[in-house]
Amino acid sequence: MLRVSTTTDLWYHYGRSRAGHDRAVPETFSWAWSQDGGPGPELLGDLAGAAVGDLGAGAARHAACLATHRLLARVDAVDASPAQHAMATDLFGHLAPRLRVVRRDAVRHLLDTAGTYDVLYSVFGAVDFTDPRELLPAAAGALRPGGRLVFSTLAHYLGGAPAEPDVVPAEIAARTPGGETTTMRRWVLQEHVWTKVLDESGFTGISTNTLPSPTDAPHSAATLLIRAVRRA
Ligand SMILES: C[S@@+](CC[C@H](N)C(=O)[O-])C[C@H]1O[C@@H](n2cnc3c(N)ncnc32)[C@H](O)[C@@H]1O
Repeated sequence: MLRVSTTTDLWYHYGRSRAGHDRAVPETFSWAWSQDGGPGPELLGDLAGAAVGDLGAGAARHAACLATHRLLARVDAVDASPAQHAMATDLFGHLAPRLRVVRRDAVRHLLDTAGTYDVLYSVFGAVDFTDPRELLPAAAGALRPGGRLVFSTLAHYLGGAPAEPDVVPAEIAARTPGGETTTMRRWVLQEHVWTKVLDESGFTGISTNTLPSPTDAPHSAATLLIRAVRRA
């Protein structure tokens, strides 16, 4: 297996074929792994006039949906991947200034935007692929007191193995832009582990909810939905 430097864009292929034929702003917003049904953006609370950040936005489909269908002030679609940033800019750059496409590591962005956001969210995004002991305190710091963090993450590994009972990442399969196989780190944690690290990071009012997988297909998965409030 080829090992590559951490600067290689391991998200080059993600969503690329869809971007070639589906340029529409989505009508619906799904938290589920299947991207089909379940609760929608109402979990983010009242967004009227809100400053919102999507952490690990990918092609920014969720952010584009919010920018178009909700009365928020601004949504920043933050993603570290040059390929995802380019895709998001191409697909939804025209939604500026309501949608801002930001190419940046989420932790660095959050550290530079202290006390800025009313709501932060992640749909299998940066929260899954970044050490939670770095990302979650940075998210708390970037929220206004009482601000909300909502994210969806895997309730278990793809394939069915249980989530981790501690804050440890797994090496999962990834592909370089040239197609070579490699790995990247993903945090698949049990509910109580997320709750503990959120509490230690400055959040309160933590609630969790599991959305069952709609099918038994090999790559289907249950979704763990987590909501938390920045401690005042
Ligand atoms: C599985 S994709 C999900 C994208 C999008 N949320 C969606 O639902 O389609 C994960 C995304 O998180 C981004 N990401 C991972 N770690 C990140 C970090 N530390 N900072 C910014 N983006 C990150 C990746 O570049 C990738 O685009």
